[in-house]
Amino acid sequence: MNDAINFYRGKQVLVTGGAGFLGSNLATRFVQNEIAVTVVDNFHPDYGANPFNLEGLGSNLNLIRGDITDRALMKELCGRADVIYHIAAQCSHVDSMIDPWLDLKFNCEGTLAVLEGAKASAKKPVVVYAGTRAIIGAPLESPAGESTLPNPVDVYGVNKLAAEWYGAVYARVHGIPYVSLRLTNCFGERHQMKNGKYGILNWFMSLALQGKTIKIYGTGAQLRDYLYVSDAIDSFVAAGRFGEKLRNGESFPEVQLSGEKVPFAIFNVASGKPKAFAECAKRVATIGGGSVEFVPWPKDREAIETGDFVATITAAERYLGWRPKVEFEAGLQNTFAYYRQHLSRYL
Ligand SMILES: NC(=O)c1ccc[n+]([C@@H]2O[C@H](COP(=O)([O-])OP(=O)(O)OC[C@H]3O[C@@H](n4cnc5c(N)ncnc54)[C@H](O)[C@@H]3O)[C@@H](O)[C@H]2O)c1
Repeated sequence: MNDAINFYRGKQVLVTGGAGFLGSNLATRFVQNEIAVTVVDNFHPDYGANPFNLEGLGSNLNLIRGDITDRALMKELCGRADVIYHIAAQCSHVDSMIDPWLDLKFNCEGTLAVLEGAKASAKKPVVVYAGTRAIIGAPLESPAGESTLPNPVDVYGVNKLAAEWYGAVYARVHGIPYVSLRLTNCFGERHQMKNGKYGILNWFMSLALQGKTIKIYGTGAQLRDYLYVSDAIDSFVAAGRFGEKLRNGESFPEVQLSGEKVPFAIFNVASGKPKAFAECAKRVATIGGGSVEFVPWPKDREAIETGDFVATITAAERYLGWRPKVEFEAGLQNTFAYYRQHLSRYL
């Protein structure tokens, strides 16, 4: 991983959504390795932005309060960047069904503003996109690979798919290297703990630490894949460097595109070790001190439930040299240790 981080020395790195969970962990990784980062975040109250996430990062952090739909701002910031991590998003599946317009604005319009900014730049920066397993939605095959036909079940999944494929267009037409990481369910330090609209494992940890009951909808038998945050961040670091390889002609045959050597790639980023949802929740309750209760599915959640999710990670292993290192149990212990110390900063 040292090689991968060294790739960024002397480069301008931009992280959209960098005050939230994944963005701030990524910014922290860079700053801890003495690589300067610019973060842009709108600190929308419904999502995970938290000034505490970035506290103490010092002068290697350039924090800008701004919105990814601000085209002039994106043109300016993307114009300076060598690598753009596009992580800002409307993240809630349920909210995307209640207010599809906001999801469209942040996830599609915001991504286009980033890509237009990249297009206007002489540097043609690498863009690494925080994609999601929600693109695969209710999987049409199992395990799901990168070429499995998408079957999103909510507006969020459809718009994240669109944002991923805007990237394919800008890669083909404008030569902007674009790497989409289809992240599975991630958990760990710096995730918002205010609500259970997304990041369910962290939400359960919050309940457990407060001695509250964790409610499991239905039987909880569905398989899920949970990835600890440091492994997710490793994949981001590897992906930026891979974007540069794509620019220099490396091919990525896993996704077939028309045209010659399009600098576009998609990777599943998952633990590769699926577990029953209820078992994960029970483990959280046991470590944290809460209890679990099985309750019927609320209609709005049941309507967008995907069933089992199992993904292959062989493409990421092969092309990114990435594989998850932290076991589920160790990830839980690390996360609990963090929130035992800092929970009040997240409630
Ligand atoms: N955490 C996961 O398990 C997971 C899984 C799959 C995909 N993802 C993707 O990863 C990304 C980040 O997720 P997260 O868990 O870190 O969420 P988060 O809510 O912690 O972070 C998102 C950040 O984006 C910012 N943001 C939202 N809209 C913005 C806008 N219009 N302009 C500027 N900033 C804006 C928010 O303020 C927040 O800080 C999202 O794109 C999400 O789709 C996350």
